[in-house]
Amino acid sequence: EKVVKVGLLGFGTVGTGVVRIVQGHQDDLVKQTGLGIEVHKILVKDKEKSRSINGLDNKITSDPYDIINDPDVDVIVEVIGGIHPTKEYILDALEQGKHIVTANKDLMALHGAEILAKAEEKGCDVFYEASVAGGIPILRALVEGFSSDRITKMMGIVNGTTNYIMTKMSQEGADYADVLKEAQALGYAEADPTSDVEGFDAARKMAILTTLGFRVPLKLDEVDVKGISSVSKEDIAYGKKLGYVIKLLGLARRDEDEVEVSVQPTMVHKDHPLASVNGVFNAVYVHGEAVGETMFYGPGAGELPTATAVVSDLVTIVKNMKLGVNGRGMVAPYKEKKLKDDSK
Ligand code: NAP
Ligand code: HSE
Repeated sequence: EKVVKVGLLGFGTVGTGVVRIVQGHQDDLVKQTGLGIEVHKILVKDKEKSRSINGLDNKITSDPYDIINDPDVDVIVEVIGGIHPTKEYILDALEQGKHIVTANKDLMALHGAEILAKAEEKGCDVFYEASVAGGIPILRALVEGFSSDRITKMMGIVNGTTNYIMTKMSQEGADYADVLKEAQALGYAEADPTSDVEGFDAARKMAILTTLGFRVPLKLDEVDVKGISSVSKEDIAYGKKLGYVIKLLGLARRDEDEVEVSVQPTMVHKDHPLASVNGVFNAVYVHGEAVGETMFYGPGAGELPTATAVVSDLVTIVKNMKLGVNGRGMVAPYKEKKLKDDSK
């Protein structure tokens, strides 16, 4: 039987987790798909850097086109981050007919429409479950689980770094700068943590949630954003005195097709379930007209939780490859797809 070959772009926090899960859960992956999955080549920036998984030196390259142009590679997993050069790598890989898994919210929130249009043209899958709320399978829930419903409101904690910072400041009186450094060392923060602490990362995630959940494309400049950098120890202590904790919340609501999205530090009453979402954990409330209120909770960042989402996307792609139904995956309503009229 064929072994599906993966070209892994990036071998940092998430990339390392992807290799660990593909290797460690291989038997379970084969049970589900009938095919083996192998990380065939790995792109890094610095080939000299020491890695926490040994024995992969022969797979590591610093030439992206050694992977993108390799005819043996079936799927590209992009876990580099940022817009450039990742956008070019993904578009070039799609041009070559490779399926894509990415954890990149910046790219999907800003250029998702272009990437998905190229994927459609080439009959390729693009999955991006890891881009929002780390290990929580929230995008699948929105696209598949709630396909029968009309979602009217989503609210939650979608950035692990800031929740980790706010929790430590509130519970241990820790210093903002020290806890940010800890979050970086744990691999939770973005390469440039400004996007975490200023709320941009959460805003991009809310844009993806809104586009998939409300089935309405949303432009990032429509999101009202405020981060946590201006929240002081005194604000936190004052809130605590009154029975509140401060959380960086994303909020999206719609009324007919009027959509309102914001990200801001918010006082949450200590008895509200979101008040107990601590550390790197995320939680998303989804309110549907028919289902009512649901809540999704789990680790929002970190090596293995995030990699579970990436590898689940890989499994879906392998299943699609076997069924010959690629290009029908988690397609956002960025563009209306014309259905073939079979009656003619
Ligand atoms: P990371 O630890 O900084 O790793 C980035 C990797 O990409 C490194 O291996 C680096 O190479 C490589 N790289 C960077 N620039 C490159 C370039 N120009 N060409 C080739 N390789 C390059 O990042 P991460 O935390 O794994 O995050 C990766 C992506 O996942 C980002 O989009 C992030 O937003 C997303 N994400 C992260 C988490 C998380 O918990 N960390 C959770 C969800 C989503 P070197 O190793 O040689 O430096
Ligand atoms: N920096 C992000 C966070 C990574 O802290 O939530 C997960 O998307």
